[in-house]
Amino acid sequence: MRILVTGGAGYIGSHTVVELLNEGHEAVVVDNLYNASEVSLSRVEEITGKKVTFYKADIRDRQAMDEIFDKESIECVIHFAGLKAVGESVAKPLEYYENNIGGTLTLAESMRDHGVKNIIFSSSATVYGDPAFVPITEQCPKGTPTNPYGWTKHMIEQMLTDLHTADPEWNVILLRYFNPIGAHKSGKIGEDPKGIPNNLLPYVAQVAIGKLPCLGVFGDDYDTPDGTCIRDYIHVVDLAKGHVAALKKVLENPGVKVYNLGTGNGQSVFDVVKAFGKACGHEIPYEVKPRRAGDVPVVYSDASLAKEELGWTAEYGIDEMCADSWRWQSQNPNGYEG
Ligand code: NAD
Ligand code: UFG
Repeated sequence: MRILVTGGAGYIGSHTVVELLNEGHEAVVVDNLYNASEVSLSRVEEITGKKVTFYKADIRDRQAMDEIFDKESIECVIHFAGLKAVGESVAKPLEYYENNIGGTLTLAESMRDHGVKNIIFSSSATVYGDPAFVPITEQCPKGTPTNPYGWTKHMIEQMLTDLHTADPEWNVILLRYFNPIGAHKSGKIGEDPKGIPNNLLPYVAQVAIGKLPCLGVFGDDYDTPDGTCIRDYIHVVDLAKGHVAALKKVLENPGVKVYNLGTGNGQSVFDVVKAFGKACGHEIPYEVKPRRAGDVPVVYSDASLAKEELGWTAEYGIDEMCADSWRWQSQNPNGYEG
């Protein structure tokens, strides 16, 4: 299939483009490079030996999107483009609503007018809020988001669902990611956050390489076995393969489908710190700090629906995730800047 990948130069997008190309699909990427470098796409070409068609454009630019759909024969859109920093979304709500929701509206209008009615959307486990139960199945009720970023995911899920109700020709697959980490085995592509990372893994990786002195562990007094929060970390390559599996599903005209993409296993912050220490060959210095506002103690998936209906399961464990993250970090200490 010929796929339009919005946000395809970013972290999850670039790994997904690799898996699409490896499976014989064709990828057209649109990205405004707000949080990415075009170098990621040349690395994707090195890894796969295949070409990626790239448009530097903003999904909010209707004319640019129309031109892309006019020119390329797109069968399905995988929609990653968006802003994703939880804390920043609290400080800049309008920017988040405008970019994420406004961008998706413009994209969907352009798709409709070009008869492209298949979309796979990057949602998040954040839509469950403080989950009603764990492991979280897709039946778990959506919670109340605690920040504008979470609301954009919540609202976009609703918007795309409404689109299918109005016109059943639309196929909408909502993929709720748990915590993507790791990098491609080649060490050529990975997560390249700007500034000081907010998320655990990129922070730990920068401590490991000596760019940051010490990890702050946000709370060790939660009601969990070691007192730190538990998350379902998933290797980004497994996550990318989940998108390829979802594409096959689209061909069955499934209507609206929701899938959790996680491993089904929970790891604590201390588990991750230990695994990363093993991967990089030395212990990660850390200091316990107060809890971070808004953190949910325990989040992990029940990923059995994706297994049953998509034939997909995550293969990699935490040791491989940390080893691959370390390979990327140590081979590219300054990310794509070289
Ligand atoms: P990322 O920032 O690396 O990728 C997003 C890409 O979208 C970037 O390359 C950015 O330049 C581009 N972009 C942003 N706004 C755009 C616009 N208006 N027009 C064109 N391009 C635009 O982030 P990521 O981690 O790869 O996340 C991809 C998607 O997955 C996002 O929608 C994110 O919210 C979602 N997600 C991520 C996580 C996570 O922990 N990384 C978890 C759940 C969901
Ligand atoms: N943590 C630390 N120190 C740090 C960073 C994080 O102890 O410097 C802890 C957090 O308190 C949390 C765990 O590590 O317990 C994971 O934190 P992350 O920020 O890496 O991930 P979150 O689960 O908080 O959030 C992530 C994404 C969100 C997304 C959510 C659910 O950042 O965008 O997963 O998918 F909404």
